[in-house]
Amino acid sequence: MRTNTFVHKYLKGLISKEDTVVDMTAGNGNDTLLLSKLAGKVIAFDISPEAIASTRVRINDTDNVTLINDNHVNIDKYLGGNIRLFVFNLGYLPHSEHPPVTKAEETLTAFKKAYELLSDNGYIVITFYRGHKGGLDEYYLLTDYFKDNDINVIERYEAGSSLLEPVVYIIKKEI
Ligand SMILES: C[S@@+](CC[C@H](N)C(=O)[O-])C[C@H]1O[C@@H](n2cnc3c(N)ncnc32)[C@H](O)[C@@H]1O
Repeated sequence: MRTNTFVHKYLKGLISKEDTVVDMTAGNGNDTLLLSKLAGKVIAFDISPEAIASTRVRINDTDNVTLINDNHVNIDKYLGGNIRLFVFNLGYLPHSEHPPVTKAEETLTAFKKAYELLSDNGYIVITFYRGHKGGLDEYYLLTDYFKDNDINVIERYEAGSSLLEPVVYIIKKEI
């Protein structure tokens, strides 16, 4: 099963129409669209104006999504807390000429802020793509942080056996 398929199946069991959730990397809007069907309110960030435009087309006239064209390190400027779930689908958008790619240090900063804004028993779902330049460093920086800080990883899913295959982490904040 591909990681995207795994994530989409998993999300269906985690959230309901009472929840506010955040897509940290809107991209082409595939995750945002699914979240909009499952949750009450969705806030979706992307640093790329093209990605925001593409997501706007993908979600069409869905009325429970707010799109924000900003770096996700700035989420605390927009969000007040009590977020049920954050989704990080890291890396870059394929097929764009000079795609912005997530950067390890920024992703760690964004993760820490997301964790603070998460409700008790909320979730963070992260897909790492380890095959591109910087992807493996990003994976190690974040997963070392999880280990060193007792972050509660409830599920880990790898699409294949190679170290360069994508991998998904599901984190639950238990207070
Ligand atoms: C793999 S794509 C996301 C795919 C998307 N979730 C979907 O369902 O189509 C990664 C996205 O992260 C965005 N991105 C990279 N760095 C970012 C940052 N610092 N803040 C917000 N978005 C960023 C890229 O522009 C790209 O659209």
